[in-house]
Amino acid sequence: MKKIILLMFLTTSPLLMAAGDYYIGEKVQTNIRSTESLRNGAKTYMNYCMGCHSMDFQRYNRVAEDLELSEDEMMNGLVLTDAKFTDKMTISMGDAQAKEWFGKTPPDLSVIAKARGLDWLYNFLINYYADPNSVTGWNNLTLPNASMPHVLWELQGIRKANFDIYDDEDGNEHKDFQNFEMVEAGLLSEQEYKDLARDLVNFLDYSSEPAQLIRMSYAPWVLLFLSLFTFMAYLLKVNYFRDIH
Ligand code: HEC
Repeated sequence: MKKIILLMFLTTSPLLMAAGDYYIGEKVQTNIRSTESLRNGAKTYMNYCMGCHSMDFQRYNRVAEDLELSEDEMMNGLVLTDAKFTDKMTISMGDAQAKEWFGKTPPDLSVIAKARGLDWLYNFLINYYADPNSVTGWNNLTLPNASMPHVLWELQGIRKANFDIYDDEDGNEHKDFQNFEMVEAGLLSEQEYKDLARDLVNFLDYSSEPAQLIRMSYAPWVLLFLSLFTFMAYLLKVNYFRDIH
């Protein structure tokens, strides 16, 4: 049943966005070529996400290699558990335990960037607000009634959301998001927090397809080869057809 509801939400969410109900569109600009941004994202991920989410398709040594980190920098600088360098980035929390704690199993985040898209992830991370009526004390504009608490609240601060609530002619209740109000400032400024969210999204994007980095570093060479090849073929053609009228 929950799956059906989720499916319905996913198929209708563009309409919700259009109606301005739950989602404020703020696009994200990531740069997968920026090793610094990916490192920042990896660090935030290890610190704040790995406690609950695994990334079954990723290994620490692979991430270290791609982000140009030594084994020591990776395992002593970023990784907080006693995992081994060659381990997969899984967690020890069992599904049953997670269900008991959160009512839901935190999904594996290996391919979440493909499933949700970068703009969705970014908005999910920046659109948390305090909600005394929810079980976790938090709610989210982009994933309403999310069972994931706002794990980055110390960085972003505590905000409440103001809604314009009214009934239309047919008596249906509408809830239009107005704005956020900072209740307690966080450790980061608004811009710093957005940058952190952007880098985290960048890391999730890279993780969903690590080969993107390699492919992108080949790209200029492939283009160069193709243009050289086309040029040679052209010269050859001119040469062959010279005497044919
Ligand atoms: C305390 C445990 C916990 C931590 C820590 C945590 N999450 Fe979650 N996360 C959850 C749970 C539970 C869900 C399921 C939420 C739902 O579907 O209502 C979830 C869902 C998500 C989803 C939505 C998946 C989907 O498509 O519905 C994303 C994306 C996500 N988490 C990213 C993150 C990121 C990034 C971090 C680190 C900043 C993080 N989570 C930290 C528990 C956690």
